[in-house]
Amino acid sequence: MATSISVQLELTKRHPLIGAEIRGVDLATPLDDRTLESLHDAWMEHLLLIFPEQDISDEAHIALGRRFGELEIHPSLAHRASQHREIYRVSNVDEQDNLIPPKETAWQYLSQSWRWHTDSSFREVPSKGSILHGIETTNAGGNTLFANMYAAYDALDGDTKEQIKSLWVIHDHDYILSLSPELSKKQNQGQYDDLPPVKHPLVQIHPVTRKRCLLLSPHTMVNIVGMEEAAGRSLLDRLIAHATEARFVYRHVWEPHDIIMWDNRCTMHSVEPFDNVNIRRIMHRVTLSGENKPIPAFA
Ligand code: SIN
Repeated sequence: MATSISVQLELTKRHPLIGAEIRGVDLATPLDDRTLESLHDAWMEHLLLIFPEQDISDEAHIALGRRFGELEIHPSLAHRASQHREIYRVSNVDEQDNLIPPKETAWQYLSQSWRWHTDSSFREVPSKGSILHGIETTNAGGNTLFANMYAAYDALDGDTKEQIKSLWVIHDHDYILSLSPELSKKQNQGQYDDLPPVKHPLVQIHPVTRKRCLLLSPHTMVNIVGMEEAAGRSLLDRLIAHATEARFVYRHVWEPHDIIMWDNRCTMHSVEPFDNVNIRRIMHRVTLSGENKPIPAFA
């Protein structure tokens, strides 16, 4: 098999705090070790890498993900590609090429990705990163926002840092279902792998960069351990509002066959609303398994 020969990466920052565009690499062919290392370094520095014009197959997408580690299988059975369980279909179009009607649980579940989240925060060992391929994109909304959680932590005032330093949060996959106006009322909410609630620190240390960052994922955060519910919710809401201020956020307006790779350990993301009843949007994601439980910053 041909290998993508080691190249000088052409890197352009897309935002002062987060996101760099990378050209000069062909993701359709296996990455050699030097290119992989350069990409990994750039990824750690910029948190989010954007690769324009990469019309790759699902097989190449999976192979690319595997160069960075093990791949997760998404807990929602309806969103796994039938040919490749590693591909999570973030799509309002089914595999027969029909728009999914809003009454379907698959459509309702996916609408929850419009909320800020980090992928797999419901797992005991959350994902370390995700690689998303924009196959059929729209720019009538449907942009993806990414927030830098190192910068958000650093910018907190001293009192808040002191208040949150030893707090732990319960995360639960089923909380996603409870947040959906449609799914929460349904008997049949779809088929998912069984995932018990887990506990993560609110401030973690990134295992590679060793920097502190917030670990927030609003779609799975049920409550703060040991805090009265209303007080915990109000603290979480305040932190979410802070972390998603425009100064920490890069907005990605998709072009077909952009590929974006982000670090779930130091970013959050959300999708900007679009007319998902009528406008097609097909994205394929592979999700990189984490290697360790989140490391509490203040053990
Ligand atoms: C995701 O939440 O992983 C998907 C983001 C997107 O569809 O842009």
